Amino acid sequence: MKDRIIVALDTDSPEAALATVKALSGEVGIFKVGMELFPRGGPELVRRIREAGFDVFLDLKFHDIPNTVAGAVRSAAALGVRFATVHASGGRAMLAAAAESARGTGTTILAVTVLTSLDDADLADVGFSLVSSEAVARLADLAVSCGVKGIVCSAKEVEAVRARVGKGVTLVTPGVRMPGDAVGDQKRVVTPADAIRNGADYLVVGRPITTAADPAAAARAIAASMRT
Ligand code: C5P
Repeated sequence: MKDRIIVALDTDSPEAALATVKALSGEVGIFKVGMELFPRGGPELVRRIREAGFDVFLDLKFHDIPNTVAGAVRSAAALGVRFATVHASGGRAMLAAAAESARGTGTTILAVTVLTSLDDADLADVGFSLVSSEAVARLADLAVSCGVKGIVCSAKEVEAVRARVGKGVTLVTPGVRMPGDAVGDQKRVVTPADAIRNGADYLVVGRPITTAADPAAAARAIAASMRT
């Protein structure tokens, strides 16, 4: 189960990120490097995390014209990252270009459907006529039909998305909390055990591990709870 935990390195300090990586040696499988950390740590940080024996999830959420996203995915794959994200709303040609660029590499593209920070009124503001649950379903179907092999979805959506896309698609789920954990700015959380039961393949966990007094012990407790 520990290999199914992805720890989000949400910091602007490559040194702090590497200290977290070191503290979690042997305890988790993957580290997520996103748009706060990557502009500071760059490819060198990705290399160092990989040299420490972990996979990297590069969460830069590409959303551009197909030719540009194809190149971005090629560059990400050349770094040897395990996962890289694109926005499903980039459309059919962009999703197909991303999937094609990743083909034959060790990198799996994950499509982000609807950001959980957007509610139905926000979607209407940007011209989406569907409510968020319908938009998630539609974008997940679109991504999979374009050859994308993974989806990022909230822990609350994972059951519905799994029912649509079947077994062959990798589902990655943030927004998990152990019973009694601080929820922080996450509004809709589920436990690691429920997320796995509902069909998640990987869980993205940030603060419950990175801000724990003993991050390794926190990661072990989450892995143990996922088995139940
Ligand atoms: O600290 P916490 O466990 O809340 O961190 C969750 C991670 O997952 C963060 O990196 C956050 O950006 C990401 N995420 C999320 N909700 C989404 C998509 C991504 O919390 N819907």
